[in-house]
This record gives sequence, C-alpha cells and structure tokens, in this order.
Amino acid sequence: STVCSSNSRGGVQLQETSVTKEDRQRLLHQKGCIVWITGLSGAGKSTVAFTMEQILMSRGKLTYVLDGDNIRHGLCKDLGFSAADRQENIRRVGEVATLFADAGLITLVSFISPYKRDRDIVRQMVPPGHFIEVFMNVPLEVCERRDPKGLYKLARAGKIKGFTGIDDPYEKPELPEISLQHVNEKDDPVSPNQMASTVIRYLSDKGFF
Ligand code: PPS
Repeated sequence: STVCSSNSRGGVQLQETSVTKEDRQRLLHQKGCIVWITGLSGAGKSTVAFTMEQILMSRGKLTYVLDGDNIRHGLCKDLGFSAADRQENIRRVGEVATLFADAGLITLVSFISPYKRDRDIVRQMVPPGHFIEVFMNVPLEVCERRDPKGLYKLARAGKIKGFTGIDDPYEKPELPEISLQHVNEKDDPVSPNQMASTVIRYLSDKGFF
C-alpha cells in the first residue's frame, strides 16, 4: 500500500498506512521520553545530562541533549532572563523535547527552568510517565562556592540583575521523579557518574529500554 494514498473524502491521508510511534519504538528498541533536569546554575545539570548521554550511547541507546547554553545560542538566542523570556524559553524547549520523545529518543533536557508551572505544562504534553523530572537538589551555597562561570560573583556585586537564586526565583519541584544530591547520607560526594547511573536505572526499571 502506498503511504500517500488519499481516502474517498478527498485528500486526507490514511491513518492505517502512516508510521506510528510504536513502529519507531520497535526499530530503536527503546521508548522515547523526556528526562527534565532542573536546578540552580552550577548545580551540575549539564554534567549529568552529558554523562548520561555518553553511558547511554555506549549501551546503544539513541539519546539527545537539549542544553540551556546550546539552545540559547540558536533556537532561543532572542531571549533573555526576564520571567516572560524564561517562560518562552521553556515553552520552546518543551515543544522540541516533545517532538524528540515522540520520535523515540531518550531526550535529556538541562535548563534551570525555575518555574513549576512551565515544567508542569511540558509534563502534560507527553503520555503519563514519559516526563521524568530530575531535581538537582544542590544548595545555593554549594553552587555559589563552585561558581564555574563567575556569575554568582557578578550577581552578588550587582553586576548581573535577576540571577536565579540570588535576586530571581527558583521554584523547587514538589514531587520530582528523582532528586539528586551532591552528597550521600554519609556526606561523601556523589559523582556525576553515580548520578547518571541513578537516572539510567530508573529509566530501565520503567521499561524505556
Ligand atoms: S532558564 O531560567 O531555564 O530560562 O535558564 P537557562 O536557559 O537554563 O540558562 C541558564 C544559564 O544562563 C546563564 N545565565 C543566567 N542564569 C540565571 N539567571 C540569570 N540572570 C542568568 N544570566 C545568564 C547561566 O550561565 C546559566 O547556566 P547554567 O548552565 O544553568 O549554570
């Protein structure tokens, strides 16, 4: 049968010949999903995302990282850090992530995404259970001590206005699927590899691959 044949009511494509999400899942041996990593600047969102990507790639899983720094150079380069711009940033990324997940990819998203409402809107866009919220539960003091880009210093000096955690809000997830801390119960540091493994185990337990 042809893919583009039309039905008798004129021009409408036949549903039964179109490729489905299930077809793609069978092809890829995995189910698409959105792993949404949220947290303060310097909490380690990108590190966990790229570590996961590396591990999953080595296990033959198709993965793609949508990262704040990258996306803000392209798709969202017209946006700043006002509440409205952050909301639009997350809306666009949410739309892209939804498409990637539908395409069958394990889609890793690392953005501060400070507003609960904006994250919840994306959650509603995919089938139940396919949005996995990962909270980088790292205290502000720790992020500020790390200050990898020197931005906290600038924010404290008043040279950057509206910096998340300093003079701009961050709304913690109330019921994230996964909460990652930088130290364990014994106060030993938890490595990015350990954090990535925790998330990967969750995905595997839920049957995404
Ligand atoms: S958001 O809130 O989700 O739209 O932010 P995001 O797209 O993830 O971008 C966060 C990175 O932008 C840098 N940056 C700022 N962050 C917070 N507040 C202000 N005002 C700001 N200005 C620049 C900062 O380096 C963030 O990097 P990460 O990777 O999160 O550390």
